[in-house]
Amino acid sequence: MAKMAASMVDSGEDAFRKIFKFYRRRNPPPDLTGVTDFSGGEPGDRVVPAELDLAAVSDVEASRVGLKPVREWRAFGLQGYPGFIFISNPFLRGCQAFWVRQCLKTYPQKPNICNLDMHMNPSETQDIWGQSAPTLSSPVSAQRKPKTLLEKLRWVTLGYHYNWDSKTYSSSSHTPFPSDLHSLSSRVSAACGFPGFQSEAAILNFYRPDSCLGIHVDESELDHTRPLLSFSFGQSAIFLLGGRRRQDPPTAMYMHSGDVMVMSGQSRLLYHAVPCILPAAAGRSALEAEGPVPDPDPDPDRDLRDGALPEPVSQEDWTVCRRYIQTSRVNVTVRQVLEPGQSLPETRACSPQGTAAAAAADRRSEKRKRSSGSTDSVHTSHT
Ligand code: OGA
Ligand code: MN
Repeated sequence: MAKMAASMVDSGEDAFRKIFKFYRRRNPPPDLTGVTDFSGGEPGDRVVPAELDLAAVSDVEASRVGLKPVREWRAFGLQGYPGFIFISNPFLRGCQAFWVRQCLKTYPQKPNICNLDMHMNPSETQDIWGQSAPTLSSPVSAQRKPKTLLEKLRWVTLGYHYNWDSKTYSSSSHTPFPSDLHSLSSRVSAACGFPGFQSEAAILNFYRPDSCLGIHVDESELDHTRPLLSFSFGQSAIFLLGGRRRQDPPTAMYMHSGDVMVMSGQSRLLYHAVPCILPAAAGRSALEAEGPVPDPDPDPDRDLRDGALPEPVSQEDWTVCRRYIQTSRVNVTVRQVLEPGQSLPETRACSPQGTAAAAAADRRSEKRKRSSGSTDSVHTSHT
């Protein structure tokens, strides 16, 4: 945590909130010197190497989802946060593009649910990509208005669709979980010591330059013994990882494109938040420079390649993705909701006051408060 930020906190106050505001400030911008940066590659200060299960995922299994061999991953833990694992961009060069394209083109499609469905007809949200792509692939015009649907997208839910009002999942709101994202998640999870992970729900958050995500705990899942996985693409952000109580001051860290975070064990139910997206640095970002894996045709080894890497992204699709991620960030959190053999009730009624669920809703209310305020929370539109 930044020393400046820490020194602002008096004991007994909502330390997390104060530090959230510190990093959210625009003018003057916050001092970022104390922010932990795992991309440096070296353990230091409170950063320790994390042990991975090198035998759990073969090199071919890893490459099929665009990941480097597990022995090449740079995985870290953070002292004071047992169960928290940070993997600094384990993706093969050129393979993040596939996941960015899935997040922007494929996963927002029906039957998945997004924020735009809350106030638009299904026919209007049928083809978010198709409606936005022509505008996003044309040369930039500073005064271009109105925003494309892709630029208005804030969240998409997959699998068991999270109900933002009741803070629950229900068996009556479920669609098939994308098999490619499950493959990615189960491999990361197995390498981190959690074989047999079932990807049952995911929330995709789409952050514009002013977006944030309020202070919350992810506790709606019924099985907390399984890790929560987070994948980040596009612009960098500050992530705050706190404790079990709001008074516990959080640690600030950078999340760059390709970074993977695993919250498991004692870190599964910690408060966390994203106070800001960092302004894009001048010039091309690492992801833009990397681009997609080139289309292999007429590569003589095509059969071999097709078996071992995600399907290539066309130049046409990449033009749209590149324009989008020049200013935006996409985060995917994948969750196992149920214990093996467990099932959800069909409808979980909106929680009455005084229940555990109501308490949980209160603890997540920061998000709602933020929604009605001037800041641009990624979950604004669900209210
Ligand atoms: C979430 C979450 C963090 C991020 O969706 O619950 O905490 O980095 N996302 O966007
Ligand atoms: Mn979360």
